[in-house]
Order: sequence, then structure tokens, then C-alpha cells
Amino acid sequence: MINTARQFKLRDIGSQRVNFLVGDGMNLPFADGSFDLVMSGGSTAFIDDKRKALKEYTRVTKTWGFVADINFYYKQKAPEEIIGKLNSAMNINIEPWGKDYWVNLYKETELELYYTHFNDVYVPSDDEIITYCTEMSASVTANADTQRLIKERLIELMSLFTENHRYLSYGIFVLRKRNEAEQISLFGS
Ligand SMILES: C[S@@+](CC[C@H](N)C(=O)[O-])C[C@H]1O[C@@H](n2cnc3c(N)ncnc32)[C@H](O)[C@@H]1O
Repeated sequence: MINTARQFKLRDIGSQRVNFLVGDGMNLPFADGSFDLVMSGGSTAFIDDKRKALKEYTRVTKTWGFVADINFYYKQKAPEEIIGKLNSAMNINIEPWGKDYWVNLYKETELELYYTHFNDVYVPSDDEIITYCTEMSASVTANADTQRLIKERLIELMSLFTENHRYLSYGIFVLRKRNEAEQISLFGS
């Protein structure tokens, strides 16, 4: 995946300042205060020690810089069976975290919760799933039998993700690293 990203970069002369590297979110290979903005899209939930990752995001951010963390959360209790199937399909360990789980985790950091945006997750129809999986499997260079197997497995997985999406929303959490507390306000937070 990282090699494909590097190929894209080579083709795009506007991306000379972009670098791709593989690293651990719990031990980032950057000096303190390196970035104005640190972004994580849908990854913190998959990191074993989320507190350690948030500490690392904070450490590499400049004072008055921002950390933007985007995460799914359960707006409604999902059947345990779905969560179990997701965890075994992806070999991960997600739990039915609600919005408060994330907000409370951020409160434990030295970051200020600066801006949030919440929205539901798109739930595609069965027809959309089949069209998508047909196109995706057809784009793989393989014989017809292998393409059929890929399509079947894709449909299985995408149907499972879609079922899970019925219970999910996502949150964009923008946090700011500040070196002194906000002055109290009479008219709003
Ligand atoms: C759902 S994917 C999100 C990928 C991507 N950000 C996106 O939006 O498509 C979750 C990612 O978290 C990565 N991940 C899990 N543990 C990690 C860790 N300790 N450090 C860095 N990334 C990790 C996984 O490899 C996976 O690529």
C-alpha cells in the first residue's frame, strides 16, 4: 500500500513535500512539536493503547497546533454477534464504543476539544453492494474462478460492514494543543 502511495506521489509534482512511511502510532518517529496538524482518520480505534497514541499525537504537535481524530462510534447498541464477526473478520478488537467513550478519552489528554462534527454513516443498498463488489473483483488480474471467489468474499464482508453501519455514526474531533487554559467566558464555551 505504501509503495502504491509512493508511485502516486512520483506522478504528482505538487506533492514534493509529502512523505509516506510505516510507523507505530504509539511511538511516532518524529521530534516533539514537529507539526501544525496531526490527523488520524479511523485509525485510533484500531490502536492497542489509545492513550499512548493520543500522547504521541500530542507530543509531535506544535503548541497551538491541532490534532484531528476521526472515529466511528456506536449511536445505538449493535448486536454482539456483529461486533464479534467484525473482530474475527479483521482480526481486531473493537468494542461498542459510544461518542462519550471518545470524548472522555480526549478529556484525559492535555488537548482542548476545539471543534466536533457528527454524522451518520452511509448505508448502501444490496444492489449498490453487488455493483461495487462486481466492479472491484473485475478489476483484479486473475482467472474467472478466482474473480468469482473474490467477489463472493467481498460481498460477504461489505454486507457485514453495511449491517454494522446501521448502528454507527462518525465524529470529527478537532483538538488543540495549548500551553495555557482558556479564559473563562460568561457568554459561551
Ligand atoms: C480502518 S483503517 C483506517 C485506514 C485509513 N486511515 C483510512 O481512512 O482509510 C485502520 C488502520 O489503523 C492501522 N493501525 C492499527 N494499529 C496501528 C498502530 N499501532 N500504529 C499505526 N497504525 C495502526 C491499521 O493498520 C489500519 O491501516
